Amino acid sequence: MPNALTITDQRNNKTYEAPIENGTIRAMDLRKIKTDPEDFGLMTYDPAFMNTASCKSSITFIDGDKGILRYRGYDIEALAEKCTYLQVAYLLLHGELPTPEQDQQWTYEITHHTMLHENIKNFVDGFRYDAHPMGILVSTLAALSTFYPEAKNVHDPEIRQRQIVRLIAKIATVAAYSYRHRRGLPYVYPDNDLSYTENFMNMLWKMPEPKYVASPVIARALDVLFILHADHEQNCSAATMRVVGSSQADPYLSMAAAASALSGPLHGGANEEVLRMLDEIGSVKNIPAYIKRVKAGELKLMGFGHRVYKNYDPRARIIKAVANEVFEVTGRNEKLDIAIELERIALQDDYFVQRKLYPNVDFYSGIIYQAMGFQPEMFTVLFAIPRAAGWLAQWSELVQDPEQKISRPRQVYTGISHRTLETADQKQTVHA
Ligand code: ACO
Repeated sequence: MPNALTITDQRNNKTYEAPIENGTIRAMDLRKIKTDPEDFGLMTYDPAFMNTASCKSSITFIDGDKGILRYRGYDIEALAEKCTYLQVAYLLLHGELPTPEQDQQWTYEITHHTMLHENIKNFVDGFRYDAHPMGILVSTLAALSTFYPEAKNVHDPEIRQRQIVRLIAKIATVAAYSYRHRRGLPYVYPDNDLSYTENFMNMLWKMPEPKYVASPVIARALDVLFILHADHEQNCSAATMRVVGSSQADPYLSMAAAASALSGPLHGGANEEVLRMLDEIGSVKNIPAYIKRVKAGELKLMGFGHRVYKNYDPRARIIKAVANEVFEVTGRNEKLDIAIELERIALQDDYFVQRKLYPNVDFYSGIIYQAMGFQPEMFTVLFAIPRAAGWLAQWSELVQDPEQKISRPRQVYTGISHRTLETADQKQTVHA
């Protein structure tokens, strides 16, 4: 079977062949399609990248219709059950799970890069007492760039690896500082005796007691949540990381941009909005009226719908199971009843069925985070910590890909084609 697309241009009846590779044609092959030599050639128009592959990637696979998510070929369910977040981060970055020796070395390296320069404390102190932690995170990631000027050598593999370790290690410390700042609490330094997640919990919640002891159930739940959030192929923030990284900006600045993209309510910021929505609904009896408003187009059901998943988001299913384990320790979050009923009603309703709208990862994560004691403002920061691994894996792949160049989309210009500028004097002369 020939593997090419034959295109007939009806404007002049010319025929063109575009080879098909991996279910795609090269957009640049369309440029040959012209009506005359002056013609620029055909482009595709694809606002929001609905049907455009911008890269080849071997990191994460999603089958949105079947509800499948795999990192480097492993099902997300198996990784969530059997691995730690740091092992999964290694997998995303290196393509293979670490051997026991590699695991030990990797954990050691991350653990020994969690400290922040003391100036960062002053920097974070400069924010208002009620600053949104995502704003603090984004700004501090960018500020880290000034501490590691070598990071701009993005084509040096050793330098690249050093920044990857630093970013995965330090983002948890920055996140904890943003939390403590908002609460008016002194910052807690990292503790090298603890696992990645326990250390994060220690930096968040240690008070004057001599030793904070993390609940193993909460620590494991947080670790599983980190695994589920670690990567999700070419989503809005990963695409941002790639676009900014394609200009050869350093990874701190690229990641600040990616985290900014994550903060939006249509992306990672949705977890914060879900909690606000559940608060607004208030009680199970108010759900039908709320759904009516959603269907009338007045609001969106936050935590529902996905560009790629047209089936149940597999991460939402795992999170629902983790929720029960967390509630054994923290007590049940009464918002869960509203969420479960909301999901039940929505999944039976024609509006949602026809549009294939299912709960996404954000629908249940906030309920767990709240039960753990987090305010909604922290939810997106909790998403960003593990997504650092995915962003860096995507960035690393990008900078080593010989097919990649600086990202620079085209446009369809719809403005005035040309006009002559008249100064005020000229206008006066004409009108005199
Ligand atoms: N509630 C109600 N209606 C919805 C929702 C929703 N959450 N999501 C989509 N729809 C409707 C749209 O209005 C549209 O209806 P129409 O065909 O009558 O116009 C249809 O479903 C298709 O939706 P689009 O907006 O075209 O889908 P798109 O792929 O552009 O958007 C998105 C995906 C942004 C995730 C959207 O579903 C949404 O806004 N959801 C709520 C926010 C959210 O939960 N975001 C988190 C996503 S997961 C993540 O980023 C981690």
